[in-house]
Amino acid sequence: MNNATDFVIFGGTGDLTLRKLLPALYRAFNENNINSKTHIYLTCRNQNDIDNYLNKAYDFLVSQLNQNEFEETIWKKFSQMLKPILLDIKGDGWDNLKNALRPIHKTERVFYFAIAPALYAECCEQLNKYQLNPVESRVVVEKPIGYDRQSAQTINTAIGHFFSENQIFRIDHYLGKETVQNLLVLRFSNLLFENMWDHRSIDHIQISISETVGLEGRAGFYNEAGALRDMVQNHLLQLLCLVAMEPPNKLNSDSLRTEKLKVLQSLRPITQDNIHEESVRGQYISGNINSTQVAGYLEELKREKSFCETFVALRAHVDNWRWKEVPFYLRTGKRLKERCAEVIVQFKSVSHNIYAKSQGIIQPNRLVILIQPNEKIQLQLNCKNLAETETQLKPATLDLNLNTSSNSFQSDAYKRLILDVLANDPSLFIHREEIDHAWAWVDPIIEAWKITDYQPELYSAGTWGPEAADKLLSQDSRSWHNAQDLSSETQQ
Ligand code: BG6
Repeated sequence: MNNATDFVIFGGTGDLTLRKLLPALYRAFNENNINSKTHIYLTCRNQNDIDNYLNKAYDFLVSQLNQNEFEETIWKKFSQMLKPILLDIKGDGWDNLKNALRPIHKTERVFYFAIAPALYAECCEQLNKYQLNPVESRVVVEKPIGYDRQSAQTINTAIGHFFSENQIFRIDHYLGKETVQNLLVLRFSNLLFENMWDHRSIDHIQISISETVGLEGRAGFYNEAGALRDMVQNHLLQLLCLVAMEPPNKLNSDSLRTEKLKVLQSLRPITQDNIHEESVRGQYISGNINSTQVAGYLEELKREKSFCETFVALRAHVDNWRWKEVPFYLRTGKRLKERCAEVIVQFKSVSHNIYAKSQGIIQPNRLVILIQPNEKIQLQLNCKNLAETETQLKPATLDLNLNTSSNSFQSDAYKRLILDVLANDPSLFIHREEIDHAWAWVDPIIEAWKITDYQPELYSAGTWGPEAADKLLSQDSRSWHNAQDLSSETQQ
């Protein structure tokens, strides 16, 4: 059990707080993982928000939590922890916070910035001015950290002025997903994979996050960012790090983060010289998703023109011994056919095929790690078709469904990460250097798109993206593994 904490959320009435943080805190409390002497302060900018806070929090919890998770008796106890507080980051109210917080030698102290990054610096300065940030306190910051390498450095320096690196917890919520952490367990606790996890056995890797949602009311932000900044710079590169990193010598935050950083530093640059071969940009037009007609990007945006990509696919390479010439195909997009996040490890063919004469080419093994919506691991093998007397090979799938959690446990990335912050464990948070090197790889891609005037190719909503994305793989005689492949394979 963690210690009693003063947990201050700046941006108490924002979407992130109401939709993600409060449900996560409620779940952790419900599972008995939050000290009952913890106070959760939620900054509000006007008295009206304060007066209505508990009603609003109640409504959001009822709508965000799964059926049967919300209980009035739990809410009664949980709501006593919630303490809305009047504070305008750029104005008044800092005294209110100062008076409310308990002495640091008696209580832990966490500041959660659920606010626009433009306010981070100001917030830090005020915390310092009011002497609220002793060395024992921690600060949690959300993505996006910056718009490019330079702006990320500015943000990190501004925070770093008032908090040392070990006090700063930068969130990438993908690292809080239990199935993402399972990647490490799978890799580093199974000899089977330990010995096969390199260029000698692996043909290529696919990392794919497809979404069916569109702009979700974030047009202003998204149109400036695009899929590369919004998803690849953080979530996809973090997944790539976990798949590609060397085994850390210990399971601690320093070792983990050091190994991830080495992967980012080994990424082969994509520049204007190879941008057309190695990258694909797309933008959705109207289409049909799950029998519902949805508008195109420009209609959603209410603009006539935009060159923002809502889809991106890349062929990446990690230039080190382990991954010599093994392509990592990365793909993400909005308004695609299905919501799915997965890592595909495609093994090579057996070195000598004794069945060549009768069976032709044998299908190589494939490991499918499904992160969401279902949490599964599938290993595709070849077996004998038992119904035939003559040896006939038949692909078969070992199918491990991980979603067998008991009712009392709800997998929730934010819950997991908040509990790690409370436990002062930074392993699943991003180090400043990682942010810096991720941008160092992404910036030249954006620059090359600009220089070569690389416009997004249109794709219909409800498809798997632009045709060029298929070509990216087909020219290497490969193809994307799509979510529907998985369901048809399971039925075999
Ligand atoms: C966020 C992006 O970081 O991740 C969103 O800003 C995206 O655009 C979201 O929709 C996806 O997260 P998840 O957990 O729903 O896959």
